[in-house]
Amino acid sequence: MKQPLPQTMGQQFGRRSWAEPWKIKMVEPIRMISQEERKRAAAEAGYNTFLMRSEDVYIDLLTDSGTSAMSDRQWAGIMMGDEAYAGSRNFYHLEEAIQSFYGYRYIVPTHQGRGAEHLISQALIKPGMTIPGNMYFTTTRLHQELAGGTFVDVIIDEAHEPSSEHPFKGNVDLDKVQSLINEVGAEQIGYISLAGTVNMAGGQPVSMANVRALRQLCDAYGIRIYLDATRMVENCFFIQEREPGYADKPIAAILKEFCDYTDGAWMSAKKDNLVNIGGWLAVNHEDVFDLARNMVVVYEGLHTYGGMAGRDMEALAIGIEEAVQDDHVRSRVDQVRYLGQLLIEWGVPIVCPVGGHAIFLDAKRFYSHIPQDRFPAQTLAAELYLDAGIRSMERGIVSAGRDPETGEHRYPALELTRLTIPRRVYTQAHMDVVAESVKAVYDAREETRGLKIVYEPKYLRFFQARFEVIGQ
Ligand code: F0G
Repeated sequence: MKQPLPQTMGQQFGRRSWAEPWKIKMVEPIRMISQEERKRAAAEAGYNTFLMRSEDVYIDLLTDSGTSAMSDRQWAGIMMGDEAYAGSRNFYHLEEAIQSFYGYRYIVPTHQGRGAEHLISQALIKPGMTIPGNMYFTTTRLHQELAGGTFVDVIIDEAHEPSSEHPFKGNVDLDKVQSLINEVGAEQIGYISLAGTVNMAGGQPVSMANVRALRQLCDAYGIRIYLDATRMVENCFFIQEREPGYADKPIAAILKEFCDYTDGAWMSAKKDNLVNIGGWLAVNHEDVFDLARNMVVVYEGLHTYGGMAGRDMEALAIGIEEAVQDDHVRSRVDQVRYLGQLLIEWGVPIVCPVGGHAIFLDAKRFYSHIPQDRFPAQTLAAELYLDAGIRSMERGIVSAGRDPETGEHRYPALELTRLTIPRRVYTQAHMDVVAESVKAVYDAREETRGLKIVYEPKYLRFFQARFEVIGQ
């Protein structure tokens, strides 16, 4: 009798796997240093994963920012850099890619996302203005504050509940926006700061219905909407998967439709766009473009390179096109979910549903005996490093910083430790190692007591703060 094909066997057992739409052409060796060395490295870094040397890290899940693997096409693009100070041909490729995939009219390149945040904040915010947004992001809010604005969170309440299974936890609560308009007046609203997906909420998406309704509301008051498009491609994947009417639409079409409801976007190209450095601002209004293009020469570089080399812009133009391919986005998000599924099965508390770029461990439930001012999420990040050389990032009270008025800690509802998955970098075996380490740290949770802060800088303290272990 003929043997069944492996494919048929797969069907027989009801199991069909997905796999990455690429194969590996070049590798970078990594190694786990000894437990003694890890203890020393953690103490020397003040238990802050931002202060560690990457050579001391085994699996680096600090961020998905600038850590993607570029494709062979992108590396080929690097060799095609036109390093002219003005009018590099790579700029025009980049401009064309953004116009055709995101649909905006005018483009200003920047060295990375916060460069673009700076330009848009300075261009649109006057002192005293309010900027409503679907949850803060650290650098975004700081630039809004430095321009004299006040950020107000208008995300739906479910976003602050780690166990809420709402499919679009990134949605804006239109009632909150309406109340704010009634309170401060539409002319005092700088713009709506809309992010897709929402990083600090756990990589949670915004629905198309929500942005459509938001547009309607804003049109009634003449308020503009600007999009943080950093992980918008992943947002589009969730729309395709969860929102009625989008299952058969390609990611590229969903992206274009979503952006059409907004007046412009800023971008950290180091995420979705698959490059190691780069960013851009794109707007539809000529007056905003004029201001931003003028300011970019002061802070970043000429308006046809904005802090990037020609070769960076070429790799970015190619990355934009690769980023919207359906098979790429699916495998990227599915890898994140693979890790999430293991942790859920093993009873580890995480933010649900699993978002686009990371697993967010719920440190409040993980270490329910450690009070928030002993930094449970920072503690968890330190413990994961000590256990298996895994680097993660605190997204809780340390990231939230201090209230500029009172100087007190801001106590965010979410106290999370982020395991961020770089794009096209690690394999499923790495995800298994990570899951097993998280489980080991969870099983030993009772022995952990927390940290105390011994140094903190004025701005974005999470990057440089130092800690000591309590009881030592
Ligand atoms: N907006 C979002 C949603 C981000 O996640 C980031 C960066 C930025 C803007 C700023 O962009 O780093 O290129 O200047 N997020 C990184 C992270 C740092 O790890 O989440 P940038």
